[in-house]
Formats: sequence, C-alpha cells, structure tokens
Amino acid sequence: MIGVFDSGSGGLTVLSALRTHLPEQDFLYFGDHANAPYGHRSNEQIVELTRRGTDALMAAGCTLVVLACNTAAAIALRTLQQDWLPTAYPGNRILGVLVPMVEAITGVPWSQEHPNNSSEITQNITLFATRKTVESGAFAEEIGKRAPHLTLTGKACPGLVDAIEGGAGKGPLSGLIAGFVEEIINSAPDAVVLGCTHFPLVKQYFAEALGDQVTIYSQPDIVAASLADYLSRHPELTTNGKSTIRLLTTAEPSDVKATNQFLPNGLTDFEKYTG
Ligand code: DGL
Repeated sequence: MIGVFDSGSGGLTVLSALRTHLPEQDFLYFGDHANAPYGHRSNEQIVELTRRGTDALMAAGCTLVVLACNTAAAIALRTLQQDWLPTAYPGNRILGVLVPMVEAITGVPWSQEHPNNSSEITQNITLFATRKTVESGAFAEEIGKRAPHLTLTGKACPGLVDAIEGGAGKGPLSGLIAGFVEEIINSAPDAVVLGCTHFPLVKQYFAEALGDQVTIYSQPDIVAASLADYLSRHPELTTNGKSTIRLLTTAEPSDVKATNQFLPNGLTDFEKYTG
C-alpha cells in the first residue's frame, strides 16, 4: 500500500493523479483535517504532526509514504528521513513533493546540482505557497543551484488553505486569489508554481486571474509521473494491488465532505482515524 499524507484535503489532488498513473496500486490517505492548516504552525509542531500521520500510515502497512504537502515536505521531510524513519520503520521510504517540481521547472535531474546551463534564457517565476513553505526557502535554494537563470520569488497566500478547507464559495475564493495575483503581476512572471497541494483545487481561479500568457506549474501530474518512474526502478516498494483507495481523516468525516466542495471525483468518503 502507498500512503499519501496531507494536513487536510490538498493531498487528494496528488492522490487523484496517482490513481491515474498507478492504477494497480492500493492507496491509503491520511488527512489531518483536525489540525489543518499547518502553514502557520511552528516547525516543531509540523514535524510532530507529520510524524504522527506518517506513523499511522506505516502502522497500517504502507511501506512508502508520500508527503503530499509542501509545508510538511519543506519543514519535516529531512528530519523524519534522518532521525525517525531508520529506527521506527527500517527499510521504509518517505518521499516529498518538492523534488519532482524542481526537476520539472529546471529540466535538471535532482542528482545534478550544478549543471552548465549558462546559455539558458532568464525567466521570472512566482511561487504561490503557504507562509512556511515560502519562508523555508527550499524551492528557491534548490532551483537556484540547478538553474541560476531562473529567478524564483515566493508569494505567501495566507488564508487560502483555511478558505478552501472552510468551504468558502467561488466569490470569496476567486477574490482572495485575484488579490494575491494583483500583488505580483507587476513583476511580469513568465510562470507560476502552485506550491501548495490545496491550490490545484482552485487552479481555475489562478488561471483566470493570471491570464493566458503565464505558465502554471501544477504539482499533481508532475509528482505522480515522477513516482511512477521511481517505482518502476524500485518494484520492491510496489504490490499487486486491487486498486483500492481508503481515506482517513482526524476530523469528522461528514464535516470534511460537507465543507470541501472541490474534492476530486470519487475521493469524498472519509473514515474517522481513531489512532
Ligand atoms: N497542502 C498543504 C501544502 O501543500 C497545505 C499546508 C497547510 O495546511 O497550510 O502546503
């Protein structure tokens, strides 16, 4: 079973793409809705909550967990990989969502930190993400090492995850997003990165506010294609699954369903995680 973790419903955008790219695998999703959003929590809290969710998935039998949450991946992934996983679940893996994005944006494999690409055309890229992800500097640092001709500017979107999880309607959501876009549009971005897995749920509002000229890098397909490639090289982490998907939440399942109007098709029926 492949585990997919997020602070709430955002990781469902990644899960939805994963079931298309890996139709024979079984998936178990853990949405920590009771503690969402993570974007304004302390690093210590994010590490501990991410550890708990990952532990729940691994205790249920997942040998591989994807942190389908940029905030958790930026703040907690390395600590969990180095300090917790080797003793808690030796041989298991935790992967994040930043590496495939950095590879897709730069066109440079992760293993190649300093390629010779000085003749490439310069580009202005805006990263829309949570405050924590922007402040971590993770995207800017990794992109800067591989593609110095790309300038990445972070734009935190406070309140957007809360609004999505809280069931805000089209008007307030598109207004909020239009406001964030207005603040960066004078820097004339060539491309933007939706660096929060919740944001593809409202991608249409970003697209409307940005116009046709701006490329939008959206994570779900990029991450799913990358994981499918990774698993083809690591078949020991796959199972002959029955294409099952189970969704767990730390909140009340009926509340999650009621407030999240943007949940992807077929990914709406949560079970309560009781620990
Ligand atoms: N989906 C999470 C991300 O990708 C949202 C984090 C939050 O809960 O604030 O960053």
